[in-house]
Amino acid sequence: MPRAISIVPAGQQEAVRRVAMPFAPGPSLLTSLPPLSVYVHVPWCVRKCPYCDFNSHAAPETLPEERYLEALAADLDQSLPQVWGRKVVSVFIGGGTPSLLSAATLDAMLAMLRARLPLLPDAEITMEANPGTVEAGRFAAYAASGVNRISLGIQSFDDRSLKALGRIHDGRAARQAIEIAQRHVDRVNLDLMFALPGQTPDGCLDDVATALAFGTEHLSLYHLTLEPNTVFAKYPPPLPDDDDAFEMQDRIEARLAQAGYEHYEISAYAKPGARCRHNLNYWEFGDYLGIGPGAHGKLSFHDRILREARVRNPQSWMDALLDSVADTGWLAESRQVGAEELPFEFMLNALRLADGVPAAFFPERTGLNLAAIARPLAKAVEKGLLDEDPTRIRATELGRRFLNDLQELFL
Ligand SMILES: C[S@@+](CC[C@H](N)C(=O)[O-])C[C@H]1O[C@@H](n2cnc3c(N)ncnc32)[C@H](O)[C@@H]1O
Ligand code: SF4
Repeated sequence: MPRAISIVPAGQQEAVRRVAMPFAPGPSLLTSLPPLSVYVHVPWCVRKCPYCDFNSHAAPETLPEERYLEALAADLDQSLPQVWGRKVVSVFIGGGTPSLLSAATLDAMLAMLRARLPLLPDAEITMEANPGTVEAGRFAAYAASGVNRISLGIQSFDDRSLKALGRIHDGRAARQAIEIAQRHVDRVNLDLMFALPGQTPDGCLDDVATALAFGTEHLSLYHLTLEPNTVFAKYPPPLPDDDDAFEMQDRIEARLAQAGYEHYEISAYAKPGARCRHNLNYWEFGDYLGIGPGAHGKLSFHDRILREARVRNPQSWMDALLDSVADTGWLAESRQVGAEELPFEFMLNALRLADGVPAAFFPERTGLNLAAIARPLAKAVEKGLLDEDPTRIRATELGRRFLNDLQELFL
């Protein structure tokens, strides 16, 4: 799952938690429903990277692809009544390393989704891939099955950096993977990380220049963070100091702007018209159904908004869906979002976007009146953190620099 998704229920729970409902069911809260996306989580990787806190696990010798697919179908079947009749604007197959799946499994997965959900004819279908697992034949097949966007976890082109990150590929494999991806789909994103162990600002800009030479429509630039419960958190590598990291961020922004990329979200840069529709839907407080181990979902109904999370362990998730007699063992969490939580959740996402969102999205997608946030809105404008434009909710440059302070006003 891309790092930019900012709402995940705190602390995965292995038992279903149903939380008190602050909205009394009854009169309509939402008069229309937002666009619906689907996220599919593939939980396996060749091996676990030392910085990574995603729900990813070293793959067993043989992937249980058939059982995984069967469980995915069962997972989706359980959720179908919740999204019945709604069209799907995007699908994101993330991980983990989805490119570990065979072409036949990926094809069957997309057929299974299409058989159950009305995908729009122009739906964006993204698949994440690790360059160490990219093979030309399989990529041709993925594209033939309907994948129309590939997101490659490049991280760096520098062999020393890649080694320090514990990656399974070198710079040459990264370049080859991009060429293969570009041969098969028009839409390619490259994930790069910066502020890497031992990296200098010049080294960081070399990575950016190499990425730019491929001319992909989208680039994601993530500041390496030391996440709790990772190997890097326990044994921190020597990282660039704050001054160097700031310099990297500034120079990345300037270089990508010069190359014609729009910096439309904290970590996301796109050529005009090439923004990631799936991620935009998260940030614009759209709906998403998340299936697969550890996947998160947000679903709106006329009278409530629901957040869900699947159990994280792949084996437990498959067993619960395929073998268990219990009804909801595959669900770690399913809870109605309280009215008091909605302003913060909405802002946490919307304020990440350089253009913000239309102010009308707030009542449309939370069911709350704009008056509910009139006070923090006014305070943020007064502090110079939010634009004065009443038709948009948009952070100023200062607001984006002090994003946490701005978001906290809506807590
Ligand atoms: C789920 S990974 C998907 C790609 C694939 N698994 C891979 O690594 O090649 C999504 C992206 O998150 C970024 N990422 C993961 N852990 C990170 C961390 N600790 N700090 C910053 N970015 C991170 C990486 O750029 C990675 O490509
Ligand atoms: S390959 Fe990607 S998802 Fe897997 S452990 Fe490494 S960063 Fe995490």
